[in-house]
Amino acid sequence: HLLSSLSTEYIVAFTGYFSAKARSLYISRALQGAGDGALEWHIVPRENPASDFPSDFELVHIRQASPRSLLTLEDHPYIKRVTPQRKVFRTLKYIPSPETAAPCNATRGTQKWQSWQSSRPFRRTSLSLGSGFWHATGRHSSRRLLRAIPRHVAQILQADVLWQMGHTGSGVKVAVFDTGLSEKHPHFKNVKERTNWTNEKTLDDGLGHGTFVAGVIASMRECQGFAPDSELHIFRVFTNNQVSYTSWFLDAFNYAILKKIDVLNLSIGGPDFMDHPFVDKVWELTANRVIMVSAIGNDGPLYGTLNNPADQMDVIGVGGIDFEDNIARFSSRGMTTWELPGGYGRVKPDIVTYGSGVRGSGMKEGCRSLSGTSVASPVVAGAVTLLASTVLNRELVNPASMKQALIASARRLPGVNMFEQGHGKLDLIRAYQILNSYRPQASLSPSYIDLTECPYMWPYCSQPIYYGGMPTIVNVTILNGMGVTGRVVDKPIWQPYLPQNGDNIDVAISYSPVLWPWAGYLAVSISVAKKAASWEGIAQGHVMVTVASPAENDVGGELTSTVKLPVKVKIVPTPPRSKRVLWDQYHNLRYPPGYFPRDNLRMKNDPLDWNGDHIHTNFRDMYQHLRSMGYFVEVLGAPITCFDASQYGTLLMVDSEEEYFPEEITKLRRDIDNGLSLIIFSDWYNTSVMRKVKFYDENTRQWWMPDTGGANIPALNDLISVWGMAFSDGLYEGDFTLADHDMYYASGCSIARFPEDGIVIAKNLKDQGLEVLKQETAVVEGVPILGLYQTPSDGGGRIALYGDSNCIDDSHRQKGSSSIITQHQKTPTLKHLRRNLYFCFRSWS
Ligand SMILES: *[C@@H]1O[C@H](CO)[C@@H](O)[C@H](O)[C@H]1NC(C)=O
Ligand SMILES: *[C@@H]1O[C@H](CO)[C@@H](O)[C@H](O)[C@H]1NC(C)=O
Ligand SMILES: *[C@@H]1O[C@H](CO)[C@@H](O)[C@H](O)[C@H]1NC(C)=O
Ligand SMILES: *[C@@H]1O[C@H](CO)[C@@H](O)[C@H](O)[C@H]1NC(C)=O
Ligand SMILES: *[C@@H]1O[C@H](CO)[C@@H](O)[C@H](O)[C@H]1NC(C)=O
Repeated sequence: HLLSSLSTEYIVAFTGYFSAKARSLYISRALQGAGDGALEWHIVPRENPASDFPSDFELVHIRQASPRSLLTLEDHPYIKRVTPQRKVFRTLKYIPSPETAAPCNATRGTQKWQSWQSSRPFRRTSLSLGSGFWHATGRHSSRRLLRAIPRHVAQILQADVLWQMGHTGSGVKVAVFDTGLSEKHPHFKNVKERTNWTNEKTLDDGLGHGTFVAGVIASMRECQGFAPDSELHIFRVFTNNQVSYTSWFLDAFNYAILKKIDVLNLSIGGPDFMDHPFVDKVWELTANRVIMVSAIGNDGPLYGTLNNPADQMDVIGVGGIDFEDNIARFSSRGMTTWELPGGYGRVKPDIVTYGSGVRGSGMKEGCRSLSGTSVASPVVAGAVTLLASTVLNRELVNPASMKQALIASARRLPGVNMFEQGHGKLDLIRAYQILNSYRPQASLSPSYIDLTECPYMWPYCSQPIYYGGMPTIVNVTILNGMGVTGRVVDKPIWQPYLPQNGDNIDVAISYSPVLWPWAGYLAVSISVAKKAASWEGIAQGHVMVTVASPAENDVGGELTSTVKLPVKVKIVPTPPRSKRVLWDQYHNLRYPPGYFPRDNLRMKNDPLDWNGDHIHTNFRDMYQHLRSMGYFVEVLGAPITCFDASQYGTLLMVDSEEEYFPEEITKLRRDIDNGLSLIIFSDWYNTSVMRKVKFYDENTRQWWMPDTGGANIPALNDLISVWGMAFSDGLYEGDFTLADHDMYYASGCSIARFPEDGIVIAKNLKDQGLEVLKQETAVVEGVPILGLYQTPSDGGGRIALYGDSNCIDDSHRQKGSSSIITQHQKTPTLKHLRRNLYFCFRSWS
């Protein structure tokens, strides 16, 4: 396993809600069952407003818990899961606009905000209001942004039209999960309650963030919010130092369910969609009709950077734009990565709205302006609150119907794709119209599939389909406004339009049998029929899907809704073998590892690979480049034994971690004899270095012990040994030139063995392993890094090995990282290597 966990505090999640007494009884019974009398443990008291009610979890302190004792706990019939308690940080990188100076005390404020920049660890955070956006290039040049005058966002979105009709948010309960709010803030008239979930002796906002977001939602003067009459429930879940714990959140969430909160804008987010207590709790919240709005993150412009929970189907995930309708550079991009390697990601964000230079309430009084997707998210939360208050029959407002109204009314932005803008820009007035004539129904996101529509349907529109290609998967979200549970009735059917050559495509469909909460998926796999192998043209048809939900009021009744999904594709004749490249996704382990170490000095970027390692996420540039050179790139989401190699020129393996079955090794060997070529980009793997870079993280109370380096070299060596090839466990770094290109080798390995009749390119590089292990610097002459080989059999393929994959991975070449590479070159330290390491390993657990 990747991490040897030495946590001391665990969240013990139960299968239902129990009294404190019952919970304690179950835990002690379960631990007695472990037969470990010496185990020291106690229940950590939680004194907060949720303590008065039954709960579905307990916080347990266990000294030196063995994996066995944790497993025994999980064996108890009422215990669902045991996970380490986590400390949650948020990073605030605010850029107060110049205009902010008046009401907020500018100088002091600025310094304070900036002093937080260092904490970027273990994030369930969406609050890094990226400095990157000020240094932006191209379309989002910093000059333009500096000129952007902060505006009253509620007015720009025409909230005043609804105010004049008498809609001001009244009767809608909004929860603000943040840093609190001071008691007598002049901007708010309807603060229903302020609750304390932290260990600090205050309910006030010592930071300004909680006040700002509350203001965007409900301020009634100066910088007006959307819904001044809404009922504000202020949950102080973050300390003034931006720290929180899983248990604080879970308690506060349970309380929000009890209080029948209508709208909750979630103030945290992180890359880890496998953080179970958290993801489960979000499902439970939406199942209880809490409309969740969350920011998709500030990790753009890299793709595959969506934060959880905004990437969930039941949550409204919001991205940011500036006032000139450009997607904010910092706004995270799709696709979702839960579905890899076998399937395909869903479209997210859901919508975008203003996230740059938005004005909101200042900490004590007055206004200030801020930027970030965390600013765009309260804009949507405010709009949702206002919208909910316009509907006479509140029964009709639920997490699905609200999302349906928002996405159906959103305005498509020209020139940007669906992974950047989702359904487009929030349009409050159109959403109001749709919501007020709403009939419960199902709908689809995206609502149609047009593989010819560029750039909106990127990446689908970037490559036509052809006979024999891997099926193109479009993973559509089904939203069900009829009820929290639903099901797909019968099998969805594909209906080709015969005059439009619909019979030239084959469609296979998989779908969630049960839609809960409020949503499910409809994955459409499209391939070309054999008879169209040399045909060129456009083919069309549609998929029909019927959803049923139990009617909420009449006993035994059922509501049904049938939706049509139009499909349009462009077909070309199958390209020649030499033009077809297959990307091995299957052996790229998917993130996430679960825990993020804190390294507050340099680690500004994400510590781990969490972008999916897919040609449409962090290998997007490489993909575009191959496409522009006329190659067709397909994705293999299954073992090597599962594809017909005679169709492909090249198999591309980058930085793979998964092991190979003996059958795969045998098949690959045969495939290469028969003319398939293989390109492997590897990475480093050195056990001494791995041991050296393990460390104890005092914040998560975890040991970080990587069990693999950048790539799984032992597994790769198994694969390539038949050709007399092997990678080494060396670790090298440095600059060099190759065919007039300036290159940088960022902690790669070298080639240890290569056939004599092959070509090997060697360069002088620094022995980075030695540097880490012994703090010695040594340049090694002639390190073999690139090997090129023509297999001897008649018509046999070629093999190319390269020891480093950083050069083709976008996540190492984006804004922050390029500067890190520069730092790295100047002062390679253990820290740099660690971060490089985190980029490269994933969970084996
Ligand atoms: C900022 O704070 C200082 C000290 O608290 C005060 O003297 C000064 O007038 C304030 N400036 C503004 C612009 O409010
Ligand atoms: C908040 O809760 C903590 C822990 O129970 C307590 O120490 C603190 O005094 C509380 N603060 C307020 C303002 O109630
Ligand atoms: C589609 O998305 C759902 C939800 O994430 C996932 O469970 C399913 O496996 C995906 N299907 C495909 C074929 O990608
Ligand atoms: C809304 O959520 C975003 C992150 O998802 C957060 O930055 C912001 O503080 C939240 N606002 C409120 C009102 O809770
Ligand atoms: C790791 O790298 C060091 C330094 O280059 C080297 O001496 C050692 O042999 C490598 N392998 C292992 C297993 O330590």
